[in-house]
Amino acid sequence: MIILKSKSELELMRKSGRIVGQVLLELEKRIRPGVKTRDLDKISYELFIENGCVPAFLGYHGYPATICSSINEEVVHGIPGDRVLEEGDIVGIDIGAYYNGYCGDAARTFPVGKISKSLERLLTITFQALNIGIQQCHAGNHISDIGYAIQSFVEQQGYSVVKDYVGHGIGKAMHEDPQVPNYGEPHVGSEILDGMCLALEPMVNEGTDAVKVLEDGWTVITADGKYSAHFEDTVGIIDGQAENLTRIK
Ligand code: MF3
Ligand code: CO
Repeated sequence: MIILKSKSELELMRKSGRIVGQVLLELEKRIRPGVKTRDLDKISYELFIENGCVPAFLGYHGYPATICSSINEEVVHGIPGDRVLEEGDIVGIDIGAYYNGYCGDAARTFPVGKISKSLERLLTITFQALNIGIQQCHAGNHISDIGYAIQSFVEQQGYSVVKDYVGHGIGKAMHEDPQVPNYGEPHVGSEILDGMCLALEPMVNEGTDAVKVLEDGWTVITADGKYSAHFEDTVGIIDGQAENLTRIK
């Protein structure tokens, strides 16, 4: 069941989204060679608490941290720890938090120091894929138009989209209906309506779309060991148009 949000609920979604977006910008400033992912996790926890937020991931199905940090061939759900970021790595940072009971969820994949031209392209294309998905978020379209547009674009660029994990509705819970796949046929299933809040989150692989989960039960990696990128924003549909709730700049 898709839960449509009232104008006053959308105002609360704006607040949680803005804090999540601001914390991502704070993290971006701190990403450089030598930083441990655990440090980024600690900073995120502190910033959320200072801002009156409840971290959304911590304790979710037993997840042990505030953020997910997914390096290189890690696709999503990497657990922060003692690993040190190195020059040339890419790191996906995914964060989510509740403010006054409403959730914001967003992710960016950042370069660590100087990265190769081919990885720069992977990041650019994945961010563009997110933006192309968001462009489909308007009244008159269907949820499936988002995935169709993302998949078509990504495959044209010579990459693959991950199918085993999808975007989602979001509100009082981090994960609500509908699922928002990054693939599929256009113009079928649920229509996009005012009051919907959606987290779009394309995961783009350099190689095949096959993934597997590590022994830790969380970290998703590419099956072929090639690199992967992930960008996510929470959007609200207001007066027929998408408003990006987590993008500050
Ligand atoms: N953005 C991710 C999602 O929508 C983050 C969840 S990580 C978890 O599923 F640890 F909380 F599961
Ligand atoms: Co999400």
